[in-house]
Amino acid sequence: METLPYSWYADPEIARAEHERIFRRSWQYVGHLGELDGPGSMFPTSVGGLPLVVVLDRDGELRAFLNVCRHRGTVLVNEPQRRGTIQCPYHAWTYGLDGRLRAAPRSKEEPDFDMDCLGLVPAQVGTWGPFVFANPDMDAPSLDVALGDLPEVVAENGLDVHSLRFHDRRAYEINANWKIAIENYLECYHCQLNHPGFVKLIDEQNQRMEAVGLRLSQFPPVHPDAYTDAAPYDVSDSVPTAQYHILFPAMKFNVNPGRPNLSIGPLWPEGTDRTAAWYDRFFGEGTDEAWIEEMRVFDNQVGAEDTGLVEAVQRGAASGALEHGRLLTRTEALIGAFQDMVRARVG
Ligand code: FES
Ligand SMILES: [Fe+2]
Repeated sequence: METLPYSWYADPEIARAEHERIFRRSWQYVGHLGELDGPGSMFPTSVGGLPLVVVLDRDGELRAFLNVCRHRGTVLVNEPQRRGTIQCPYHAWTYGLDGRLRAAPRSKEEPDFDMDCLGLVPAQVGTWGPFVFANPDMDAPSLDVALGDLPEVVAENGLDVHSLRFHDRRAYEINANWKIAIENYLECYHCQLNHPGFVKLIDEQNQRMEAVGLRLSQFPPVHPDAYTDAAPYDVSDSVPTAQYHILFPAMKFNVNPGRPNLSIGPLWPEGTDRTAAWYDRFFGEGTDEAWIEEMRVFDNQVGAEDTGLVEAVQRGAASGALEHGRLLTRTEALIGAFQDMVRARVG
């Protein structure tokens, strides 16, 4: 099975097509309900690199808008806040929490100034447990359709997302095309050689893989050695197995074995050779900080190992030296499925 053409990791035209046909039309994680505190509260975020604001309106209904003023394009909301309106910091155009333009100084001097046509551009927004998702495409299928069976699959592993508490957020950047970062995530062929700590915990050779709807999932059992002192952290608790999901195109959803935990977050292209990402970590209420810290050290170690691998692929694959690569049919089946999804949208 051939990989995507390597030119797709370097070509600005492909990047533009991915932005238009993938990132502007997909659901993405944008934050969590704990960031909102009653009607009028709002927080800025982004979806696929587009600035977005998530708002709880006067009636407590969740809304999302492109966070860009209809006058001259300023970003409107720069930090979480609670107010009765959204006022642009540049020339004070003022929008209701429903997005309608309510006031624009000196607009009465304008002969054809139609307030009704200058409201904030809405985006779709939805929730699953504490997680907030948005999609800039108002015509896209709903969040429930996009998530598919992911909520059931997560619950079956003993994790109740409603009972989790937000712990912390981390942002990072990678010097590689976004697809290389996702593809690395979707196989553990590289794990034996490159993640010595991880393979003491996770039995990747016996893992199950699934591509269902937009979900690309790995279910590795806990390694027998993980119940000894050799393990990077204590895995003996209510979540029996790891689950590593990508929700196409680029939402990562990780559950590690042990106490109730997960991390969730988006990544998106910042250029053909640059990817930005962030994630939120959640834990069961009262999870002890020492355990959380052990897991953070473990996660960061694996993350740092992966960043080096991914950036080296970018330097080789995107160099133009070769036209394409070769995928292993079973071990890299999820990469094949991911590349098919990209091809179907961009191709
Ligand atoms: S750019 Fe927002 S009011 Fe001018
Ligand atoms: Fe890895």
